[in-house]
Amino acid sequence: MTTGVWYAKCEKRNDTRTPGERHILNIQFERIDLSNPLEVGHVICMDEEIFPEDSLDDPDYWKIPALHAYWIIADKRFVGMVAVELDRAPGDRFSDDTIEDSGTIYIISIGVREAWRGGGIGNTAKKWTYTEAPFVKGMKRIVTTVRVGNAESFALNEAHEFEAVRAIPDFYPDGEDAQLFVRSIRA
Ligand SMILES: CC(C)(COP(=O)(O)OP(=O)(O)OC[C@H]1O[C@@H](n2cnc3c(N)ncnc32)[C@H](O)[C@@H]1OP(=O)(O)O)[C@@H](O)C(=O)NCCC(=O)NCCS
Repeated sequence: MTTGVWYAKCEKRNDTRTPGERHILNIQFERIDLSNPLEVGHVICMDEEIFPEDSLDDPDYWKIPALHAYWIIADKRFVGMVAVELDRAPGDRFSDDTIEDSGTIYIISIGVREAWRGGGIGNTAKKWTYTEAPFVKGMKRIVTTVRVGNAESFALNEAHEFEAVRAIPDFYPDGEDAQLFVRSIRA
């Protein structure tokens, strides 16, 4: 029942556009209050829409204290989401002791709704995570893991000078490998 309410709310955020309809003028990032179950419902809803295969649909997941999530708002519409974990390198999960926890921003996800892709929002969001985001100050590096078959995301990481460190075998539930990327953050 509760989930139904969350989904109904989520539909209110379901603004769409015809691709190429107009230029995107203004992109903003708004911190999501993850202590609010309704907001977590919206998060799960958008996450399922953008990542149907890898959606993080357990509300408890979003209670991890190191997790910070932001709506991407383009011209006042909710068009995507950014989620990161702070001071927590992938090593906690993948036995990769080459990257220290301290000073690491781990991008859990950057996602743009399908109708809004190809207009520069992903580029803006990516750059924001290692330059202007409120969580950047004092951090040393930023890392992310992506499906090896995700060409858009590979291109996005390479365009932002993330270095491909190594593949992580069988990372995803369907057995696909992940690629681990890292980029240093200059003070
Ligand atoms: C990856 C994603 C966030 C890009 O968002 P977007 O708003 O379309 O990105 P932009 O329009 O700013 O394009 C950013 C870059 O992505 C790459 N890219 C975007 N679409 C691409 C495509 N169809 N093929 C290859 N590369 C592509 C390019 O490097 C592009 O930069 P360029 O335009 O300077 O060449 C979006 O495709 C998405 O949400 N995908 C599903 C979720 C996902 O896979 N997230 C990443 C893993 S967490």
